[in-house]
Amino acid sequence: MRRSLGFAVALLVGVAVLTAAPAGAAEPALRDLAAARGVYLGTATLASEFRGDPPYAAVLAREFGSVTPGNELKWDATEPRRGKFSFAEADAVVAQARSAGQLVHGHTLVWHNQLPGWLTSGGFGRSELRSLLRRHISVVAGRYAGQVRAWDVVNEPFDEDGTFRSGLWLDTLGPAYIADALRAARAADPGARLYINDYNVEGIGPKSDALLRLVQSLRASGVPIDGVGMQAHLILGQVPASMQQNIRRFVDAGFEVAITELDVRMELPSTPEKLARQAADYGAVADACLAVRGCVGLTVWDFTDRYSWIPSVFPGQGAATPYDEALRPKPARAALAASLSLSPSARRLRGVR
Ligand code: XIL
Repeated sequence: MRRSLGFAVALLVGVAVLTAAPAGAAEPALRDLAAARGVYLGTATLASEFRGDPPYAAVLAREFGSVTPGNELKWDATEPRRGKFSFAEADAVVAQARSAGQLVHGHTLVWHNQLPGWLTSGGFGRSELRSLLRRHISVVAGRYAGQVRAWDVVNEPFDEDGTFRSGLWLDTLGPAYIADALRAARAADPGARLYINDYNVEGIGPKSDALLRLVQSLRASGVPIDGVGMQAHLILGQVPASMQQNIRRFVDAGFEVAITELDVRMELPSTPEKLARQAADYGAVADACLAVRGCVGLTVWDFTDRYSWIPSVFPGQGAATPYDEALRPKPARAALAASLSLSPSARRLRGVR
């Protein structure tokens, strides 16, 4: 009796010590907070970034439970010449993920961008292009079969009004390229969840309406489709008010949802006020995902301003990620941690699951 009491006291003290996080102790890693909530927290990364930058590599491994190769799985990287596949860079990202115990999110098999010249200027007819598409998917998804949690099989198939985006695939193959790609991906890696991924589908609107109709009609016709990726390349202060409701309608329809490319850009220079606003935006996105069981995870599109794609594509804008250029955590990182670690009662008070 006395012994078990002593043991219980020791156990309680131990738990108290472990949970009190004494001054100087490392803060909990975002990946662990996320795992405790039943979701993953991921980041995009490039082999060229972590290879030459040990401090970056250390944060990558410590904070994130999932990685998305930022460019290495795109068509121009994996099949730069017809039938000549190249996997060294993608292998490097997958190997680092494995060594850090991270999931891999596959990005992407069919897209209108970052296609090699031989493909875009090959003048291929319908049946040849269709077999090129199927073969590409079978080789790339086949190589990583069993190692990829989910694939963005098709990326950005929609225009803003919800019609299909014109480009090589739609123009030559018609909308059937989407079902073809999904079937080829399922055959190549039966264990991977298959997604359609797009931007400006975070809130309810014509584009997300079209995405929902598409995944429902694909499933109704027996085409393999498991989920949708909402990229979430957001502008400061513009998290859609309907985000949680939008996530919920996809989940209610039987699809999983992931936030796949989150960043929140602002006009440079950043100020403390903008960074505080940005933190609130990151927290709001995390809350929207956490509020819906079936929103499986959240991925930032690289975690430091040092490597963010924003300044090169949106001139004058940047500071979009949760860590600054010197790899110091920004308020957005604290907001993610807070959202991921709210106690059950605090979550109820804030209306979050
Ligand atoms: C971006 C990469 O981050 C850049 O390095 C590259 O130059 C262009 O593509 N939506 C997507 C991603 O689906 O693949 C894009 O990634 C960002 C927008």
